[in-house]
Amino acid sequence: DIKRDFEGKKVLVTAGPTREPLDPVRYLTNHSSGKMGYEIAKALVERGAEVILVSGPTYIEAPKNVTFIPVEMAMEMYNAVMMHLEEVDIVIGSAAVSDYRPKEIQKEKIKKDDQELTIQLVKNPDIMYEVGKRKQNRISVGFAAETTNLIEYATKKLKEKNMDLIVANDVSQEGAGFGVDTNIIKIIDKNQNIKEYPLMSKSQAAHVILDEIAKLF
Ligand code: PMT
Repeated sequence: DIKRDFEGKKVLVTAGPTREPLDPVRYLTNHSSGKMGYEIAKALVERGAEVILVSGPTYIEAPKNVTFIPVEMAMEMYNAVMMHLEEVDIVIGSAAVSDYRPKEIQKEKIKKDDQELTIQLVKNPDIMYEVGKRKQNRISVGFAAETTNLIEYATKKLKEKNMDLIVANDVSQEGAGFGVDTNIIKIIDKNQNIKEYPLMSKSQAAHVILDEIAKLF
């Protein structure tokens, strides 16, 4: 029996990796599959929400009954989120956004002439930071993917980005984080209450996250 506790809520979810082009044939990216974010989008639809899913490139099927906005670069994801921010009640940032992008995108394929090649990177805007800055009454929920000092780094991100909740996952743990169908999450709130969960499917994790968000209504 599914609760319809998100009825009347409009939610924007970011998911997947971003792709930062170097030249016409190459890009920088990460291991995000989009599974975590897509499961959140699905769970939201089941629970009655209206969903906008802004997604980087993935190899999985887009969930049904969502407004699907495919993007590639972090800058495109940023623009898509900002475009829809005013109309939503909740933002859930599960995307693995590239922190940096190549300073220049070469027009032609880079040739392998030299023994060493240096690529200059510049910082991308932080989407969830910007969401936190323009927060008003909106609920903002982020993720933290860490390989060490999970709680410390996640708590720092929660505060800096003005989030209501952060979902922390230690991506060096087996069965957690990138690519797999399962996750091991900890949910931290503004008062630094930490809830720890055992390994579960990303679909179950999505519902657990929504249960915590619903308590904030
Ligand atoms: O896609 P899957 O294969 O299912 O894997 C799931 C996941 C590991 C990607 C997911 O569970 C997860 O942890 N997502 C966040 C990954 C991440 O990039 O975390 P971060 O700690 O670098 O970023 C912190 C928060 O700021 C995140 O909410 C992120 O979306 C956001 N961010 C980061 C950088 C940036 N430029 N803009 C952002 O909005």
